[in-house]
Parts: sequence; structure tokens; C-alpha cells
Amino acid sequence: MASHVFITGVAGFLGSHVADRVLALGHRVSGCDNMLGGYRDNVPDGVEFDETDARDFEKMKKALAGVDVLYHCAAAPHEGLSVFSPNLITQHTYNSTVATVAAAVLNDVKRVVFCSSMARYGHQGGEGGVFSEDMPARPVDPYGVAKYASEMYIEIMARSHGFEFAHAVPHNIFGPRQKYDDPYRNVVSIMINRMLQGKQPIIYGDGEQKRSFTFVADAIQPLEKLGFEKHAAGHTVNIGPDEEFVTVNHIARTIADILNFKLQPIYVPPRPQEVKYAGCSAEKARSLLGYKTTVSLKDGIAETVSWIQARGPKPFEYHLPLEIVNDKTPDTWKSRLI
Ligand SMILES: NC(=O)c1ccc[n+]([C@@H]2O[C@H](COP(=O)([O-])OP(=O)(O)OC[C@H]3O[C@@H](n4cnc5c(N)ncnc54)[C@H](O)[C@@H]3O)[C@@H](O)[C@H]2O)c1
Repeated sequence: MASHVFITGVAGFLGSHVADRVLALGHRVSGCDNMLGGYRDNVPDGVEFDETDARDFEKMKKALAGVDVLYHCAAAPHEGLSVFSPNLITQHTYNSTVATVAAAVLNDVKRVVFCSSMARYGHQGGEGGVFSEDMPARPVDPYGVAKYASEMYIEIMARSHGFEFAHAVPHNIFGPRQKYDDPYRNVVSIMINRMLQGKQPIIYGDGEQKRSFTFVADAIQPLEKLGFEKHAAGHTVNIGPDEEFVTVNHIARTIADILNFKLQPIYVPPRPQEVKYAGCSAEKARSLLGYKTTVSLKDGIAETVSWIQARGPKPFEYHLPLEIVNDKTPDTWKSRLI
């Protein structure tokens, strides 16, 4: 039976891809975005869209009337920036959750799927280590705190008011529709945008920090299941591959190879609190949701390059305020070097 699905942050990268999938399944989809990030033309045809801020409780109360499943994707997902702009990041990441989920309770929404973040794990990966869901949450930056606080808030509200929830923990997703002119996040897209402009990539630290990068197409199947499978309710699940655990230097080399670009990265001091090893365990996603990695890192990057090439490279837009400017603030942002 068709459900009514609401997606916050639907003009964003992940939210718009979730919308595509849910529409294809035959459900009714509505959504909101305040355009802090994302692109307006990301919103797929067929989505009933409203430019609403998810922190606006009164508007969210009306927007969620008749909704069965809520995907809460809206956030300011700027982990590195969050130690310099903690008010901004917490407002859009935690406060948006508080208002949206309270409005969902009033409207008897049946299930809330929350896009959390691997920032919930902090430094626990250890050298070459991976994050698994049974690790305690130990965030080390305000963004991670906002995500973990949102998880706890949702669980408390679910227990109190009786709705189902699931927490998705995406790991460095990239692909078409990701904002590539945002200097504060999205390393793959930033590097592609710079190299297409003939500029060397800028790398924080030695570039040997490791991540599990997820091509967006592979994140959508588990997100769908978290919204619709009965047995997925109540779970926190990593979303990402565990076959390729690669360094930021490797990402730069892969993009340079695809573009035939002569690579000489610009290395700048590390960012405070940046986690060195953040790998993904996909064990739980495999057993609970039937997760499979279908696109290799190289193919995913090639598809992202093609998408950015087709739209054209763009100057970076310093659209978010730096709340704390001091000697710890990266020069790349203070002096707008990206
Ligand atoms: N992309 C990743 O690698 C990744 C990794 C971990 C977690 N996540 C989480 O997944 C979700 C989606 O991330 P994304 O990469 O698509 O980011 P995105 O920035 O492309 O999408 C987020 C959208 O939320 C919107 N938004 C922000 N504040 C809002 C508010 N107060 N009200 C309404 N809309 C608001 C933005 O305008 C943007 O379009 C986020 O919650 C993010 O924290 C993403």
C-alpha cells in the first residue's frame, strides 16, 4: 500500500536521492528544505516541495499532516566547521530534529528514519580501525554531539509516544547532486571542482587519514529498508562499504588519474579534532538490510566527475558564517583560499 513519505532536506544530496527511490516505489513524497545547502534543482519532479525551515515547529506541524514515514535528512553536516561555527551547526542539526520530531509525534507519524553520522563514534576507530554499531557513541566535535543528541532525543520520544525509529549512519557519501561549491565539506566534490579549474587539491594534514567512501547509489537501498522493513525498526546501522578503506591522498590520485591531471597537492595544517581513521563495518547492514556494494570507488568517482563536468566547475561559495575566528581557524577558510 502506498505511504505518504516526508523528507526534510529534500533539496540536499542524500534527501533528493531518497526521494527518487521512494517515488519510484509508488509512494507520495513531500519534503522541505531551507536551502542552507543543496541545490533547488536537486528536488525530483513529483515531490511536493516547500521551502520550510525544519526548526519551524508551527510550519512542520502543518507539513507533516497525514505523513506515515519521515526521513529526517536536514542538517548542517559540516563536521570540520562545527568547532568554529557550533551555533549554526547545532541549530540546523539538533534543533531541527527537536522541532521536526515533535511535529511528527503530533501527527502520529509511524516511523522516523534519522540520518545520523559516523561523527557519533569519534576517535574510536584506532589505527586502521573500523566503526561498528556496538561501539558506544563518543563524539569529539559539536556536529557529532548534535547527531548523537538527536539520536537520543528520538529514542526518548519514541519510547514516550510510541512511534518506530531507525538511525542511519552514513559514511562519506559522494556522487551526483552533492554540493561541490561548498568549501567547508565534501572532499571528493571539492577536489574535482578544483582540478576542473586547473587548481591543485588542498589536503589537511598529511592526507593519510582514512575513510570508507560510499557512492550514493549504494546508500539508497539500505535507507529504503530502514524506512519500510518491519524488522529494521529500532536499529542503528552503518551505511557504507567495507571493501575499500582509503586515504584522502588516494582519492586525490584517483581523481587526477580520471582527469589526466598532473597532481601536486597543497598540504596545509590538519584541522582540530579531525578523526584520523574512520572506517565502516558493513556487517550489520549486510545481515539486517541485505546491503551490497555494487559500485567501485573508481567508478563512483568517474560518475561524479562526469556530473560536475556537465554542470561546469564553479567558484566556491563561502555561504556559512565563521563564528569563531582565531589562530586555530584554518587559513583556507579565514583567507578563503579554496
Ligand atoms: N553525505 C554524507 O557523507 C553524510 C555522511 C554522514 C551523515 N550524513 C547526513 O545525511 C544527511 C544528508 O546529508 P547530505 O550530504 O545530503 O547534505 P546536504 O547538505 O546536501 O543536505 C542537507 C539539506 O538539509 C537542508 N537543511 C539544512 N538545515 C535545514 C533546516 N533547518 N531546515 C530545512 N532544511 C535544512 C540543506 O539546505 C540541505 O539541502 C544529513 O543529515 C547529514 O548529516 C551525510
